[in-house]
Amino acid sequence: MVWRILKYIEHLFYRRHRQGRRIHSPYLFDFVHHVIFNASKGEVPVKIQKLHRELRNDLNLVPAGTPGAPSSADKSENRTVRSFVRVSSVSRKQGALLYRITQWFKPEMIIELGTGLGISTIYLAAGSPETPLHTIEGNPDRAEFAAGVIKRCELEGVKVHYGDLDQKLNDIIPDIKGRFVAFVDGNHRYDPTISYVRRLITTVGEEAVIIMDDIYWSRGMNLAWQEVISWPEVRVSIDLYHMGILLLRKDLHKAHVKIKF
Ligand SMILES: C[S@@+](CC[C@H](N)C(=O)[O-])C[C@H]1O[C@@H](n2cnc3c(N)ncnc32)[C@H](O)[C@@H]1O
Repeated sequence: MVWRILKYIEHLFYRRHRQGRRIHSPYLFDFVHHVIFNASKGEVPVKIQKLHRELRNDLNLVPAGTPGAPSSADKSENRTVRSFVRVSSVSRKQGALLYRITQWFKPEMIIELGTGLGISTIYLAAGSPETPLHTIEGNPDRAEFAAGVIKRCELEGVKVHYGDLDQKLNDIIPDIKGRFVAFVDGNHRYDPTISYVRRLITTVGEEAVIIMDDIYWSRGMNLAWQEVISWPEVRVSIDLYHMGILLLRKDLHKAHVKIKF
């Protein structure tokens, strides 16, 4: 915990690329200014915003227990939807960023590892509603709950796969199309995280965007992030503290950017 706080303070005071300064690549400049800082003011649909707000205040119970690395909030037997959504799901700001990423990138496929209750899923899907989205969740009650949330948003291209991330990712990989967006947000441990990202990177055709959540959640997750960004296939890494974004396009120059988001 102390380590996380120190890392956060370090991140806040890292000034080099604050507000997207000193970025010379036009592609990266566009991404940072129009997608991360939302200069084009793309707004998340009201339906998504309303549902997220409703679930942030929902006192119904969802069974706890996670197949992956448990958070401290997962220790009780049951959690309210409110607790899960506030502690374990993306925030409204992060959700809006996921929405802008899929809206900007127009992927041919979206892959999500770790559906939870479907909050991040609806933002990813709403940004590019025509794109097929495959999301994997290992807790059956959460998978069912998420399917209901997605249905309420009328996002028809989303398929929730119930099962272990490792196994289900292998099933999906043969169908991955060239341009994809992947959101890695399940089983926050070093080895599985490295393995998921490695397998996704191996499938990259022309271009892809991979978002890793909670890159400072633990030393292990941070080590995984540091390792992944050193791989030659990862051209650009953007460290936002709560999330890290990998841009995979062969004509980009290798760059690491840290941004206060
Ligand atoms: C942080 S939550 C996902 C939150 C969601 N992405 C959001 O922002 O709304 C991580 C989820 O991954 C699932 N998970 C963890 N390890 C897993 C594994 N090995 N196989 C399948 N699901 C797993 C957990 O059950 C949990 O619901």
